[in-house]
Amino acid sequence: MESFLIKGGVPLHGEVTISGSKNAALPIMAAALLTDEPCVLHRVPDLSDTRFMVKILESLGATARSEAGTLTIHARKIKGYADYDLVRKMRGSICIAGPLLARLKRARISLPGGCIIGARPINLHLKGFAALGAKIKIEGGYVEASVRKLTGNSVFLGGRAGPTVLGTANVMMAATLGEGVTVIESAACEPEVVDLANFLQAMGANIAGAGSPTITITGVPKLHGAEHNIIPDRIEAATFLIAAGATDGEVTLKGARGDHLRAVIDKLSEAGVAVERSGANLVARRKSRLKPADVTTMPYAGFPTDVQAQMMSLLALAPGISIITERIFESRFMHVSELARLGADIEIEGPSAIVKGGRPLSGAPVMASDLRASAALVIAGLAAKGSTQVNRIYHLDRGYEGMDLKLRGLGARIARVEEQAA
Ligand code: EPU
Repeated sequence: MESFLIKGGVPLHGEVTISGSKNAALPIMAAALLTDEPCVLHRVPDLSDTRFMVKILESLGATARSEAGTLTIHARKIKGYADYDLVRKMRGSICIAGPLLARLKRARISLPGGCIIGARPINLHLKGFAALGAKIKIEGGYVEASVRKLTGNSVFLGGRAGPTVLGTANVMMAATLGEGVTVIESAACEPEVVDLANFLQAMGANIAGAGSPTITITGVPKLHGAEHNIIPDRIEAATFLIAAGATDGEVTLKGARGDHLRAVIDKLSEAGVAVERSGANLVARRKSRLKPADVTTMPYAGFPTDVQAQMMSLLALAPGISIITERIFESRFMHVSELARLGADIEIEGPSAIVKGGRPLSGAPVMASDLRASAALVIAGLAAKGSTQVNRIYHLDRGYEGMDLKLRGLGARIARVEEQAA
């Protein structure tokens, strides 16, 4: 297994290009199952999660060809069955359910199960399919959905933690080939949902309101192949903005969308990190000493849960007390005890973490537990004195394209090493 070995204390300086969004790419790749014609996707990030999605699509009968960030998927003839071994490795793979149901009128998919950040139920996805007329059966760890004809309906997709991103994507995809009008209420407003809707429209779907809590889909008999550019990854961008602030450097992000990052930029400003637009780029640097800030994760356009861990690393460096409240996933605090190994003083109180910031961080071996927790440990390691070894960085490779290379380009002393060799 590989680790990152980081020699901390070097301010990051320079330019970094933001990759295509993982969480936009995954459902868009699944949407290619909706047509028997080829789909051409540009700016697909080269990650273990996107490679894994390719494997899933191939296991269903599609072909995929990748060249320099462009992925061509052709689902000429497909089957509707995905087994446990595929789905359990990546919860995001559940977004094949909507396209399979729409195209084949049946899908048999293993239930994904929980993961380290929380329970990850799919009840809302199933509620949406049922509203479109699908019969749902759960048996032997599999969910089987079948329907004679998907029929438009009105469905409320708000759950206990608000809307569901992939649930909205799944129901939207299923409804594209249904008969009549489907209205999703309490739909997720994330930019990744909008990107998917744009791709579906390029395929011939009729969708209005994506990006708002009410999405209206008017079914069409058939979708065709299309070409699409995936949006830049707002979570990767946020991670680099925070790393610039944490190391007291100055980093220019090329290709990031400031309009997708408003809540993050606002909190960074409160914490003493300025993010300014410079032409098509964003530039992050400290505008004062770091200051504490209270952060609560929320559905878009609120502060993203996927940036909570990274923000905690920054606030651990800010003298004073910051309260970070996690409202989306119940157990997304696995990074807290690892940050403590670097010297951070953080206590968990129910859904909140109380960060008593400003203690100096010093390098230590730490263990990554999930994708965003890994990014938080890398940021803390970059800011800490001495050497930090972040173990199990396969989590990081799921969602960050060449993070070590990009950080080295900014002057960081970071190396990818074999765990036992370090
Ligand atoms: N929920 C339900 N029922 C459902 C679905 C979700 O109760 O049927 C709950 C979840 O338990 C959670 C909340 O609703 O409390 C929101 O979950 P959501 O469904 O929005 O999450 P997701 O669609 O499975 C995507 C991203 C996650 C990101 C979340 C929230 C992908 C592939 N994954 O997951 O990304 O954290 O939205 O923004 O798009 C990551 O990239 O590190 C990551 C975990």
